[in-house]
Amino acid sequence: MVRSRITGTGSCLPDKILTNLDLERIIDTSDEWITSRTGIKERRIAEEGQFTSTFAAEASRRALEMAGIKAEELDLIILGTVTPDFPFPATACIVQHEIGAVNAAAFDLSAACSGFIYGLSIADKYIRTGDAKKVLVIGAEVLSRVVDWTDRNTCILFGDGSGAAVLEVTEGDSGILSTHIFSNGSFWNTLYQPGCGNRNPATNEQTLLDRLCYIRMEGNDVFKHAVRAMEEAACTALTANGMTPADVSLLIPHQANRRIIDATAKRLGIAADDARLFVNLHNYGNTSSASIPISIDEANRTGRMKSGDNVLLAAFGGGFTYGSALIRW
Ligand code: ACO
Repeated sequence: MVRSRITGTGSCLPDKILTNLDLERIIDTSDEWITSRTGIKERRIAEEGQFTSTFAAEASRRALEMAGIKAEELDLIILGTVTPDFPFPATACIVQHEIGAVNAAAFDLSAACSGFIYGLSIADKYIRTGDAKKVLVIGAEVLSRVVDWTDRNTCILFGDGSGAAVLEVTEGDSGILSTHIFSNGSFWNTLYQPGCGNRNPATNEQTLLDRLCYIRMEGNDVFKHAVRAMEEAACTALTANGMTPADVSLLIPHQANRRIIDATAKRLGIAADDARLFVNLHNYGNTSSASIPISIDEANRTGRMKSGDNVLLAAFGGGFTYGSALIRW
């Protein structure tokens, strides 16, 4: 059967680390509060001169190197982000230029924290239909530039970085078994950036005075929906492949918040301390669309996934969007 397979992974994070103790110095918070409510200890922050494309291009180079293919061989580049370098052109086009993928079509995709799963789903369809043979899927964010550093409810959560994966056509048993994507637009304004689009343009002085160009979030609503939606998405993937949670070798959930991750895993019968649950958000915070590909790369490079393992991905984010993918590694 023709399917797509991840043949290379890469990630790139800023060197600059912002710890909870650093945050204690700029807002009214504590390491104890942040750790107990979120599980986050530190996050990476882009420095001047570093952009979403900077991290995306480097993550892509690393993924291409592992796959052992040249950028010219890529047919398609899909980049999930809510923090593009510019409103247009697509950051994917900038990455295309930087890595020299001269034969690829390139576009951005806006599905917030589900961006990588959405991208994986499209890439998988292109490969299965025969319209592409080699696709690069990227999740990349510089959220630190849309975080309100005076809002302690949100600024503690987010971080910057990028992860990427090369997908190639395969006829073997391993590869992407299925992908599943969902949206619920009735919650579009529960987690969003009200300003700097065309409803509240940055050219309107009031937009800036009202601090509309920063992330706004109803944290408790997001929490409840995230757990339910990630469970639903994960179960859909398992059912579609005739599997149960016992068949899962590694669960890689979107790294939003330790309590969301643990609650989702628990609903799937996977304990918080089970080695089958992948968690790295203590180091990076929530990097939105980048969180799953960074995690896949880390799991891959540290030997957490063996040939034949069933790897389950589940994400949830603004929109609301959510989704899952089941991969036989
Ligand atoms: N430091 C100290 N106190 C704080 C902080 C902070 N950083 N932030 C909020 N508080 C205070 C609040 O002001 C409130 O004080 P009050 O009782 O005097 O009013 C108190 O702590 C409790 O606030 P809650 O909002 O009820 O805290 P909660 O336990 O719900 O945790 C949190 C808040 C962490 C945001 C939680 O709702 C959550 O995790 N939501 C999910 C949001 C999320 O992960 N979003 C990521 C993007 S979406 C995604 O990626 C899936």
